Amino acid sequence: MTGLTDQVPVPHLPELPRLPRLPRRLSAPTPGWVETTDVVVVGSGIAGLTTALHLREAGQHVTVVTKVNVDDGSTRWAQGGIAAVLDPADSPAAHAADTLAAAGGLADPAAVRLLVTEGPARVRELIRVGAAFDRHPDGSLMLTREGGHRADRVVHAGGDATGAEVQRALQAAVRRDPWIRLVEHALVVDLLAEGGRAIGVTLHVLGEGTPDGVGAILAGAVVLATGGLGQIYATTTNPAVSTGDGVALALRAGAAVTDLEFVQFHPTAFAGCLCSCGRQGDHNCTNIAPKPLVSEALRGEGAHLVDADGKRFLLGQHELAELAPRDVVAKAVYQAMRAAGTDHVWLDARHLGGEFLAGRFPTIVATCRAAGIDPATEPIPVAPAAHYASGGVRTDRHGRTTLPGLYACGEVACTGVHGANRLASNSLLEGLVYARRIATDIQAAGHPTRLKRGPLLGVEAAPGTLPQTRAALQQAMTAGAGVLRSGESLAVAAAELRRLEPAVAGGRGTEQWELANLVTVATAVVAAAYARQETRGCHWREDWPETDQRWRGHLSGALAADGSFSLAWERT
Ligand code: SIN
Repeated sequence: MTGLTDQVPVPHLPELPRLPRLPRRLSAPTPGWVETTDVVVVGSGIAGLTTALHLREAGQHVTVVTKVNVDDGSTRWAQGGIAAVLDPADSPAAHAADTLAAAGGLADPAAVRLLVTEGPARVRELIRVGAAFDRHPDGSLMLTREGGHRADRVVHAGGDATGAEVQRALQAAVRRDPWIRLVEHALVVDLLAEGGRAIGVTLHVLGEGTPDGVGAILAGAVVLATGGLGQIYATTTNPAVSTGDGVALALRAGAAVTDLEFVQFHPTAFAGCLCSCGRQGDHNCTNIAPKPLVSEALRGEGAHLVDADGKRFLLGQHELAELAPRDVVAKAVYQAMRAAGTDHVWLDARHLGGEFLAGRFPTIVATCRAAGIDPATEPIPVAPAAHYASGGVRTDRHGRTTLPGLYACGEVACTGVHGANRLASNSLLEGLVYARRIATDIQAAGHPTRLKRGPLLGVEAAPGTLPQTRAALQQAMTAGAGVLRSGESLAVAAAELRRLEPAVAGGRGTEQWELANLVTVATAVVAAAYARQETRGCHWREDWPETDQRWRGHLSGALAADGSFSLAWERT
C-alpha cells in the first residue's frame, strides 16, 4: 500500500541561472601560530556566549573568537524581547501553535516542542546569570505581545533595550570565568577539517603573530554562532558584522545549508532621516547599519500602521491586523508603499501618550527625536528592512551540522524551529535552548582535540579587488532578492553576483574575506529563492503568488569541490 506521504507530488526544480564559482578555501598565508582548546566558539552574541557558559559547566576549556568587539553582533540590538511561557495562563502548546502557524508549514514540530518546553527554564537561567528583565511593582515579570503571538509571553528589559541587557549580563559572566578565553578582532578565515570532521579554524587576529596575524586553533569541536546575513542587503536592521560568515564557512567546509530563501524582512524599520539632508523616508542617506528598529512590541502595546491618509490598511487583511505574523505585515506594508508610490508608511503611536512611550520605549523615542520626530504628536515613518535569516546551516536537534565535530547555534543555524517565517522573539530563545543542547552533546561525545597530521598550508592570493563591490552586491540583492522576488529579478541578481566573481577569487584581508563570504551567501540565497517557485512565509514570488503543496519541503544547498553551488529537494 502506498503511504500518504508517498502520494505528495514532488516539485520540479527549475534549472538555476548561471551562478558564480565560489571558493572552497580563502586566500590566506600559512598560519604562523597554533593553539589548542577543547571547543572553539565562533561568535559572541547570545548563542555563542551561552554555549561557552554551558560548556564551562561541563568542564570544557573554551575559546570564543569574535570578529570585532564582543558586543558588535545583533544580540545587542534586539528590542522586543524573548518569547517564553512564563505566565501560568499560557502553555507550551499555545506557544508551539503560534510558532507553527507563523512558519508556513515548514517548521519541524519536534524541534518547536523542544524550543517551547525547554525555553522557560533557559530564560530563568539567564535571569540567574544576571539579566534584569522588566518587572511589575509586585516583582512579577512584565510580559508583552508581538506579531503572531496570541498570548502575552515576551519578556523585555530596559523597556525596548532587551538585547543590550542580555549581552551585558552574558559578557560579564564570560569575563568572570578564567577558563573562557575571549579573542576579539579575530575573523575566522576557514574551518579546518581532517578525516571527515571539523578539527578547528584558521583565523586572522588583528595585531597578533606572524605572518599577517593568521593562526590556527585546533579543537575537539567547533561551534558556529556567527549570527545573520543581513549585510547582503542594502537596507537591513543587522549590524555591519552580519556578513553571513558562518554559512559561508560551513559551505566551504562541505556542510549543508537549508531554507536560505526565507529571509525575513522586518516590516517596521525606522525610515526617518537621521542625517541633515532633511528628506523623509528610507533613503539610506546616512548609510546607517543597523537600520534602527521600531519594535513589534510597539504594535503589541497598541500602535497602528497607517498610510498617508491615516487609514489602517491591515484591518480586514488578517484577523490579528497589525499583530499578524511578520511576513503578512511586511507584505502589507510593501503593497501599501507600492500603491502610494512612497518609500515608507507610518506607525501611529500618538494615542499611547508621551509618558508611556518614553518609559516603555526609550530607545525608539530617542531614535525618533534624533530625526526631529516626536512620536507622542507625530506618526513614525517606517519601511521593511532585511532582518533575520530563518534558514542557515542545517542542524539536528543537538545542534550538530552534517559535518561531524561542527555545530551551529542561533541565527546561523537552521534547527527547524522557524520554517518559512520566524515568529517574533523566538530567536533569542532559540539561541538559549540550542546552546545548552549543544554543550550537553559535546560533553557526552567527548570529542578529543586532534593535532593535524599534515602541515597547515596557506592559499596563494590572486591579485585584484574591485572598489564598490560590497555596495553593488547589496543593491543587487535588495533589487532582485528582496521582500518581493521574481524569476526575472533573481536572474538579474545572479548575473550581478557572477560579475563579482573575480573580486572573490583574489586578494586577502578582512574586507576581501568578508566579501567572499557575502558573495557565497548571496549566491545561496538567490539560488534557493529562484528554485522555489511558490510563495510561502517570507519568500514572496511575484510570478508564483500561490502557496503550492508540492513545495512543502526544504531546499538543501551544498558547495561542490569545483566551487559550484547546487540544491537538493527534501520533503518535510
Ligand atoms: C522586534 O522587536 O520587533 C524584533 C523582535 C524580533 O525580531 O524577534
